[in-house]
Amino acid sequence: MSKITEKSPKHCANKQAVNLHKFSKKIYIYLTTLILSILSLIFLVWLILHPTKPNFSLTQADINQLNLSGQSLLNSSIQLTLQSNNPNKKVSIYYDEFLIYASYKGQKITPETAIPAFYQDHEETNTLSASLVGKEQPVGPSFADGVQRDQRTGKLALSFKVMGKLRWKVGTWVSGRYRFVVNCMTVMPFGPIPSPPLSSTQGSHCSTTI
Ligand SMILES: *[C@@H]1O[C@H](CO)[C@@H](O)[C@H](O)[C@H]1NC(C)=O
Ligand SMILES: *[C@@H]1O[C@H](CO)[C@@H](O)[C@H](O)[C@H]1NC(C)=O
Repeated sequence: MSKITEKSPKHCANKQAVNLHKFSKKIYIYLTTLILSILSLIFLVWLILHPTKPNFSLTQADINQLNLSGQSLLNSSIQLTLQSNNPNKKVSIYYDEFLIYASYKGQKITPETAIPAFYQDHEETNTLSASLVGKEQPVGPSFADGVQRDQRTGKLALSFKVMGKLRWKVGTWVSGRYRFVVNCMTVMPFGPIPSPPLSSTQGSHCSTTI
């Protein structure tokens, strides 16, 4: 008797455990399949739409002030116009962050200026303008030498760098944030003193990396 009473609850419990195990295994398989199919669907949509990087070009850059005091503090004022184009047919872009600064021979010469966040529809082109103003921005000793050399050569090359964050939008789905970097370069004629204002009006293409 004692053997039976001992055995049966154990057996029952085992059976239940097996059932439960089977049940949770089914749920597990079901959920895994569901998640995998959703993921592959998202991946497929992503592959089909495959967003292309936006294109940027520099339309105009004007240096209105470029004054150096004490060989190391620069006052500058640069006005620039950029064109931004979204080449995608189905994907639009939210630009959440857009910071731009000017550099000269690898040296940052203005502080970062923010262009307000904007939305770009598919195949849309936007014109962006920024005013980069540096007040006593510290520059390295090579700056003054470089400017003098460029002045003798009659050409000045200026770079602009954009650092930003964007989100892709496909239908109603919006992606996470991606960092992007844009590098632009322009060459402008640089006459003898008094030099500024200088300007470049030939459009130059910028490179974009995401
Ligand atoms: C600064 O730049 C302005 C405009 O180019 C010029 O008129 C002025 O003389 C410059 N000042 C100094 C101190 O170089
Ligand atoms: C640069 O700007 C500061 C503040 O506006 C001014 O005090 C200084 O004289 C300027 N320097 C030059 C070289 O223009």
